[in-house]
Amino acid sequence: MMSKANITAIGTYAPTRRLTNADLEKIVDTSDEWIVQRTGMRERRIADEQQFTSDLCIEAVKDLESRYDGTLEDVDMILVATTTADYAFPSTACRVQEYFGWENTGALDINATCAGLTYGLHVANGLITSGLHQKILVIAGETLSKVTDYTDRTTCVLFGDAAGALLVERTEEAPGFLASVQGTYGKGADILYRAGLRSELNGMPLADSGKMVQNGREVYKWAARTVPREFEHLLHKAGLSRVDLDWFVPHSANLRMIESICEKTPFPIEQTLTSVEYYGNTSSVSIVLALDLAVKAGKLKKDQTLMLFGFGGGLTYTGLLVKWDVK
Ligand code: ACO
Repeated sequence: MMSKANITAIGTYAPTRRLTNADLEKIVDTSDEWIVQRTGMRERRIADEQQFTSDLCIEAVKDLESRYDGTLEDVDMILVATTTADYAFPSTACRVQEYFGWENTGALDINATCAGLTYGLHVANGLITSGLHQKILVIAGETLSKVTDYTDRTTCVLFGDAAGALLVERTEEAPGFLASVQGTYGKGADILYRAGLRSELNGMPLADSGKMVQNGREVYKWAARTVPREFEHLLHKAGLSRVDLDWFVPHSANLRMIESICEKTPFPIEQTLTSVEYYGNTSSVSIVLALDLAVKAGKLKKDQTLMLFGFGGGLTYTGLLVKWDVK
């Protein structure tokens, strides 16, 4: 018989330093009005100079540990979703292992930009349902401020730093993972990237500043086209309809984009969970932050049905239908 997996615990962490729209007005030619109107963002959190992604991930796991009834000593895999790892290698997951000292655990980073958390959950579900693993920590962590060009007003107003962790465990009860969809559009690679060893991508010469480069309008168009289509596809795969869904949790890239996705779906914006207003776009972390904000606000409750939808650079996406099993 196939094993089943559930999400059983959550933890998050955001640096204390705030970057408000008023602060950004002093750095680039922008305004609070433009940022709020186009993105719905009011502030973001920024890591200290000596605070890196693994530091944020460790704090998020400590938060999870303090809110979880069981032990993490028997975690047998750590998956860290990040595009801003401390080092090219060793992986961020290995840095987290080193801090906690759990010896019998695998450790692996996942690079799927803003889709990293949902990819991590998908992989964790596969590893558990196949019977290979029992207890997996899926962590998302980003220090995007370190790769943001603060002279480029089209990107620097968007991004923030944070980390979040979800525990995925084997269960004898009903499965927490109901259905998933994935898709990739590699032709769109050059509209959202950060250069590495190569200086061209799909025939395009790359800016090699080490900073993130984005054609926001094109990313917006791709997401607004893809997410509503896959929203329906995912419900269909699970044999569910919109009324069965308690919450839709898309990647918090931009509140206006989420509104436009909801209009096309159509799904009530009031039933979305987001983290964009006070944290900005935190890439792979945005979904877990939105979940934790909803837990703390008393909105997200055990046994509710959620659609998590991560999408971003690659271009790539993963949508998941899950039952929330955190007590
Ligand atoms: N302040 C003031 N004006 C600005 C700013 C700013 N911060 N940024 C751009 N503008 C100007 C532009 O220069 C342009 O001026 P022009 O008409 O004189 O040329 C005008 O505003 C409109 O620019 P657009 O880029 O067309 O603005 P748009 O409404 O598309 O908003 C935004 C830009 C917010 C970036 C939006 O396109 C977006 O959110 N895109 C999606 C981003 C995303 O989802 N990323 C995915 C994941 S990120 C990851 O994977 C790491």
